[in-house]
Amino acid sequence: MPETEPSSYPENPTWDHLEKLAAEAAQLAASLLRAQTGSQLQISAKSSRTDLVTDMDVACEAAIVEFLTSHRPDDAVLGEEGAGRDGTTGVRWIIDPIDGTVNFVYGHVGFGVSVAAEAAGQVVAGAVVDPILHETFTAHAGGGARLNGDPIAVRPDGDPSMALVATGFSYDHSRRRRQTEVLGELLPHIGDIRRVGGAAIDLCTVACGRVDAFFEVGLNPWDYAAGALIAEEAGAIVQDLNGGPPSRQFVFAASPSVADALLTLLQNAEADQI
Ligand code: IPD
Ligand code: CA
Repeated sequence: MPETEPSSYPENPTWDHLEKLAAEAAQLAASLLRAQTGSQLQISAKSSRTDLVTDMDVACEAAIVEFLTSHRPDDAVLGEEGAGRDGTTGVRWIIDPIDGTVNFVYGHVGFGVSVAAEAAGQVVAGAVVDPILHETFTAHAGGGARLNGDPIAVRPDGDPSMALVATGFSYDHSRRRRQTEVLGELLPHIGDIRRVGGAAIDLCTVACGRVDAFFEVGLNPWDYAAGALIAEEAGAIVQDLNGGPPSRQFVFAASPSVADALLTLLQNAEADQI
């Protein structure tokens, strides 16, 4: 992916500019979330009794869309909480106002705000902000990944048999038994598992070397669009289980030092067949 987009994009934003807008939008939402800590939330369930949404998910998505619209009114938008519009520029923003809503409700670290920019169907810039830790992860295609502005890289020297692997479980409870079977096949061969509660932050922990790898089935684009780019730009192998791009079927991100061994274990466990 070139660092500047083809001239067919009329407003001619650089990927670097889209990264900055994504970061500002996500930081705006993060400050709203920090201000809300400890206040009464309106909470309801979506796809299952454990898939929660709060009034803050909706308010943060609205604030992000308003900010992006003020800078780039003709871009398309896709948001988890229903924001959606077509655009005319070839750029589409993919927004998760709170990834890890259950953590947010419990006041548990691990939730984040995720904003990604896609051009011609490819994610070219993104930001994930951890409001509690005041951490802003960003990247643009071909430009590396950063944490609070400083370059980050995946853990260089992982040993697969000691690998720390992050994952997540489905809101669809019928799929969880099968997910525990996959874990049962994986766990004897690796170091340990982490289930923190937000895929966007999980992918950023791969990017900065706090875990060796991450995998999950059934994620939505807003959960992984920004985080997958940040992990890839930090040097991670990012793909589905069979070498294709990350997808709703399977998202895998790992340091190259452990990726092949983990992929073999996950393929043997048919980890995407859930
Ligand atoms: C969820 C989180 C969680 C993952 C779920 C996602 P949400 O996002 O990323 O870690 O296991 O699959 O849906 O619903 O809190 O935005
Ligand atoms: Ca969400």
